[in-house]
Amino acid sequence: METVVSGIRSTGNLHLGNYFGALKNFIKMQHESNCYFFIADYHSLTTHPTPEDLHGSVKQVLSEYLACGLDPEVATIYLQSDVPEVTELYLLLNMNAYVGELERTTSFKDKVRKQPENVNAGLLTYPVLMAADIIIHNASKVPVGKDQEQNLEMARKFARRFNNIYKVDYFTEPQPYNFGQALIKVPGLDGTGKMGKSEGNGIFLFDDAKTIRKKVMRAVTDSGPTEKNQKMPEPIQNLFTIMDIVSEKETVDFFKEKYNQCEIRYGDMKKQLAEDIINFTTPIRERILEISSDDQYLSKVVKTGAEKARASASKTLKEVREIIGFKPFVTNQYEHTK
Ligand code: TYM
Repeated sequence: METVVSGIRSTGNLHLGNYFGALKNFIKMQHESNCYFFIADYHSLTTHPTPEDLHGSVKQVLSEYLACGLDPEVATIYLQSDVPEVTELYLLLNMNAYVGELERTTSFKDKVRKQPENVNAGLLTYPVLMAADIIIHNASKVPVGKDQEQNLEMARKFARRFNNIYKVDYFTEPQPYNFGQALIKVPGLDGTGKMGKSEGNGIFLFDDAKTIRKKVMRAVTDSGPTEKNQKMPEPIQNLFTIMDIVSEKETVDFFKEKYNQCEIRYGDMKKQLAEDIINFTTPIRERILEISSDDQYLSKVVKTGAEKARASASKTLKEVREIIGFKPFVTNQYEHTK
């Protein structure tokens, strides 16, 4: 059976991008493959959360995983920080990861631009930790959104490099996965770019109906098409992209036709879009509230997950250590001197 690994950082509530780019596929894949889904709490430290925020976010993401339908009976659900083997593999992989290639990754360059006051070494080696997360279980498929493509390319590179250096065929090269389709990018509501947790352009699974209506009604549009069948500008295309994922096909077709005939009223489209999002998120929100208040259940889930994840991770690490040349001393070597 194929092994699947993926994770989401604990940096706040999950939004529609996290759901449709990643979580939806986690849920679909859990019954077909040997799945490991974790909460990337080490990765979230690059932005220096307070201890209270760190714990609160981990609990929130865990509750959201479960509320969306991840089943701890079939998938291994765990916290990254509960599997210390990951950090050892990270250290070992760091020895063969070059500063130059890490500095050239798009997400690192973005961070340098956006937060020049906090360019820490954890940010630089972020793709190495991510590779360790994946190859510690020797996964072949990684369900992720489009923004993770380059990180996956790096993970393949580090896996391949390890195999080449030690002349072994040990690690599988992990592939990003979306059931044969192109990886998804859910846009934000601010006209350009992707929906992000810190971009202020997101709709969260945990948002209530009033908040969702307000956010959608405020989404960027323009004064409308002036010619029939005119190409859509990015902000309008983005609204349609979100509608495509949450609404019925007939609804999308209806508004597309209105657009093409220059008869569209964005106010009506947004009202419909808001209601369709609310229909989708309301039951999830209710389950999040229910699950997040059940600390006993949550602690049972992470405990079982940690045990299963560590069993798999320690097996890999033991083999990796042997391949690298860490060998146990022969214990009866000095027996005769006693
Ligand atoms: P993170 O926490 O930023 O996002 C989690 C998942 O959500 C996807 N995603 C999106 N997909 C489509 N449209 C969007 N607007 C959108 N925003 C986020 C991401 O592609 C991702 O799949 N580095 C990872 C976490 C991680 C990881 C791993 C993932 C750590 N180790 C190992 C896979 C395997 C991250 O920051 O994702």
